[in-house]
Amino acid sequence: EKEKTLAMIKPDGLNYTGYIKRVIDESGFSILKATMVQLDESNAALFYAEHSERTFFPSLVKYITSGPVSVMVLEKVNAIADWRALIGPTDAKKAKITHPHSIRAICGMDTERNCVHGSDSVQSALREISFFFEEMVSNEGRDLN
Ligand code: CMP
Repeated sequence: EKEKTLAMIKPDGLNYTGYIKRVIDESGFSILKATMVQLDESNAALFYAEHSERTFFPSLVKYITSGPVSVMVLEKVNAIADWRALIGPTDAKKAKITHPHSIRAICGMDTERNCVHGSDSVQSALREISFFFEEMVSNEGRDLN
């Protein structure tokens, strides 16, 4: 069964857009939607609301609003887990050692500046897709958020 996930290329990842899009294509994903957006503080805080109590939250908001991001809806069988596997561990510095071929290992810097994002569950994929592409999620789906 096909699944959708939200992929984001963060401000520090934009230089690698060509490479990242190539990985997406070669891994069998369809890009259903794509747009570039400059997040402001309030929508960044909303997108990352689940992290609002973490010490790194202010820094995360500053980072993610430091420039435009590229957001895409990716579709394929097992899209959520497969995109997470391709991007690799959160900490890009560790990824360079443990997952050297992952996108974060290649394009990222550290645990914050990790160049890409991927939804971590069906529920967060629904929430994150509707966050950027309201028209893609049915009213039924939106009730889950
Ligand atoms: P992401 O997968 O988009 O989800 C939350 C983001 O917060 C994460 O990628 C990083 O950019 C950032 N993040 C996670 N953990 C830390 C941390 N310990 N310190 C700083 N930033 C972090």
